Amino acid sequence: MTKILEVKGLRTSFFTDEGEVKAVDGVDFSIDKGKTIGIVGESGSGKSITSLSILRLLQEPVGKVVGGEILFKGENLLDKTKKEMMNIRGNNISMVFQEPMTSLNPTLTCGEQIAESIRIHQKLNKKEAWVKAVDMLRLVGIPSPEKRAKQYPFELSGGMRQRVMIAIALACNPELLIADEPTTALDVTIQAQILELMKKLQDELGTSLMLITHDLGVVAEMCDKVAVMYCGKVVEYADVKTIFTNPKHPYTIGLLNSVPKHDQDYEGDLAVIEGSVPSPFNLPQGCRFAPRCPHAKAICHAELPELENLNAEGEQVRCWIHTDQWEKEEVGVNE
Ligand SMILES: Nc1ncnc2c1ncn2[C@@H]1O[C@H](COP(=O)(O)OP(=O)(O)O)[C@@H](O)[C@H]1O
Ligand code: SF4
Ligand SMILES: [Mg+2]
Repeated sequence: MTKILEVKGLRTSFFTDEGEVKAVDGVDFSIDKGKTIGIVGESGSGKSITSLSILRLLQEPVGKVVGGEILFKGENLLDKTKKEMMNIRGNNISMVFQEPMTSLNPTLTCGEQIAESIRIHQKLNKKEAWVKAVDMLRLVGIPSPEKRAKQYPFELSGGMRQRVMIAIALACNPELLIADEPTTALDVTIQAQILELMKKLQDELGTSLMLITHDLGVVAEMCDKVAVMYCGKVVEYADVKTIFTNPKHPYTIGLLNSVPKHDQDYEGDLAVIEGSVPSPFNLPQGCRFAPRCPHAKAICHAELPELENLNAEGEQVRCWIHTDQWEKEEVGVNE
């Protein structure tokens, strides 16, 4: 399987008045061509900063990649010039953000925005670009695309605006689409429609997808591989089936336990993970999950575990103890 993206030992820091924040602190994962990776974890775990690092969209010099490699089709994006990166962002890698209103230009109609991005990156004249823009709106399932193309972002609903964002992102036919919580701001029905649309377009266009979400339901629906992040590090990396049926890291188990089960009547509170994410200025010296982990031993508080390769399938876990017996009971997996 060809890898479209390989992130190796990525480290990104913010240099603030209070000191260095290691937002991404040694992250490794890869994406196979045409496949989907889910990046999951609580807020503040470094998911968005990982994607901004890949696209080189950090606000420098406050935020800066300080280590590692980002190989896109074998070439390190960190070695590219600003101009080369602009080209890559226009032609090879696109991004969809959580809140379309802040990413869309309020002074241009939806059609103009798509046409503009098409015209910059493909050699089409104004009229051809407009026709393609309307085609893109049709492709993302917007009814009456000719009419909608002439409307401004504020005239559309949140779901329609996110479709426009996806149309812009896909207009250049990117090889990799990075979607950061693309449906979080939308209501559940629209959310399902947008995800279905992304999946359909991905199948049709062969796009690889990096999907950032805190929603494990979305992961189950969409992803082939999953990287679970905690405090700037990947703590578990495996195929989606393994994550749901045989998770190895106590943090992954905590996340799974906090998802309501659809197939049973849920009574009582959700089992949320106790405690909170540590401050980036005061990280534990051992395992970063140790203060919240129900299985922590002395070694966990003393030393940070490495991300360990478990098998030929590429499953990886960062935990001193990874016998998977306790997990099965806790997650309630039926054998
Ligand atoms: N502009 C910034 N200045 C300082 N620290 C930041 C900034 N942006 C992000 N961070 C730090 O990076 C961490 C990871 O952020 P982020 O990647 O946005 O998390 P996620 O997307 O997983 O919720 C945050 O907890 C925060 O400490
Ligand atoms: S290393 Fe220890 S504290 Fe960390 S997740 Fe594993 S068992 Fe828990
Ligand atoms: Mg984020």
